[in-house]
Amino acid sequence: MNRKTSETLETTKKEALDTFAKYVNPQKARILKNAGLDIIEGKREGALVWDITGEKYIDCITSAGSFNVGRRNPEIVDALKKALDEYDLGAFLLCSKQKAELAKKVAGITPGDLQYVMYGSGGGEANDFAIKLARGFTFNTEIISTVKAYHGHTGFSLAAIGREEYKKPFFPMVPGFKQVPFNDLKAMEEAITEDTAAIMIEPVQGEGGIHPGTDEYLKGLRAICDEKDIVLIFDEIQTGLGRTGKMFCCEYSGVVPDIMTIAKSLGGNLYPISATIYREELNDFVMNHPFTHLSTFGGSDLGCIVGMATIDYLVKNKVPEHAGVMGERFQAGFDTLLKKYPDLLLETRRKGLMMGLQYTNESIGPRMSYQLAQNGVLAIYTGNDPSVMRLMPILEIQPDEVDFVIDALDRSMSVVVKQEGIEQY
Ligand SMILES: Cc1ncc(COP(=O)(O)O)c(C=O)c1O
Repeated sequence: MNRKTSETLETTKKEALDTFAKYVNPQKARILKNAGLDIIEGKREGALVWDITGEKYIDCITSAGSFNVGRRNPEIVDALKKALDEYDLGAFLLCSKQKAELAKKVAGITPGDLQYVMYGSGGGEANDFAIKLARGFTFNTEIISTVKAYHGHTGFSLAAIGREEYKKPFFPMVPGFKQVPFNDLKAMEEAITEDTAAIMIEPVQGEGGIHPGTDEYLKGLRAICDEKDIVLIFDEIQTGLGRTGKMFCCEYSGVVPDIMTIAKSLGGNLYPISATIYREELNDFVMNHPFTHLSTFGGSDLGCIVGMATIDYLVKNKVPEHAGVMGERFQAGFDTLLKKYPDLLLETRRKGLMMGLQYTNESIGPRMSYQLAQNGVLAIYTGNDPSVMRLMPILEIQPDEVDFVIDALDRSMSVVVKQEGIEQY
């Protein structure tokens, strides 16, 4: 790139950042700059993203695990391009071939007797409907979720989040929600009352700091729900569609929830779509209230087409299995780092390519983000626990790219560990 082109691109980037700060969110722009993430995405391909100035990064943020099938996956891009020749969003009120066929495919890959699909356009909406369905079906109101849980920023989902900071400015929340510690069966049992409609959890807490639910915990929740006629909701929005090394994380424990929610990668990273999948039994409520959840953009024809292309791609290419193997390769690198930087890295937690690095304190996350960006890797700490850095690359990351990320972590940690007087961010 010659000097003039490079200067022009720097100017374009600065203008974009300044305009974002002026018209979108100046504080967000400042925080991203401090974390070395003042990047304007240009070209995107596979595991990689380029800043418009040409800097190349391995993307380990992927919009919190929204790019399972890679940036601009060519097969899914083709499916969307072809669809645009013939279709649009479609009428949300009418039945459509696309809505029907995607639902059949989703029912085919989800475990057990999960069968019916209600579409939405995002994860929060999918969880909102899951909660509405649980309340409508049971005639109870109480929803028990977990401390540090993340279920989205829409109405019911926000009330289910386990972090007060997100909710406080908007009190009063929808009533009937409480949170208990994650992976604590006894706390859950004690929280249940006659009015409990549902238990809602992420099989691996994502924003909460990458905490996998133990098999014992998940099986215990299923047993409690069976015994007390409570609806079990698994939010697989971050864990689903191959992220943890299986198509759905609940397959590890063999526990089938009554309702499962999926979003993010379902849209092939190209078109928004989400789904709430539920068992036949819960359909009793929908039979009596067929128009209970209306969503103009939910389950659009275009969204359903990319959804089908995404599922086909994941299945055909055994993408979840690949994620499992690459996860092991990351783990070997993490084990070396754990030995080398004991003052900085406390432990690593992982399920497939849903990976968390637990640092020794909260200030390390932003510093590591900054250093990693200097070393060609985009990574950020989790939303509900800044002491944990989340790494969620695309699922088809290649061995040499895994090694590159481990090397970048090593180089970044060697800088951060030398920094004295670590200040709170
Ligand atoms: C587990 C989980 N649930 C729900 C959501 C909300 O999804 P959306 O941002 O599409 O509303 C997210 C988003 O990160 C998530 O990780």
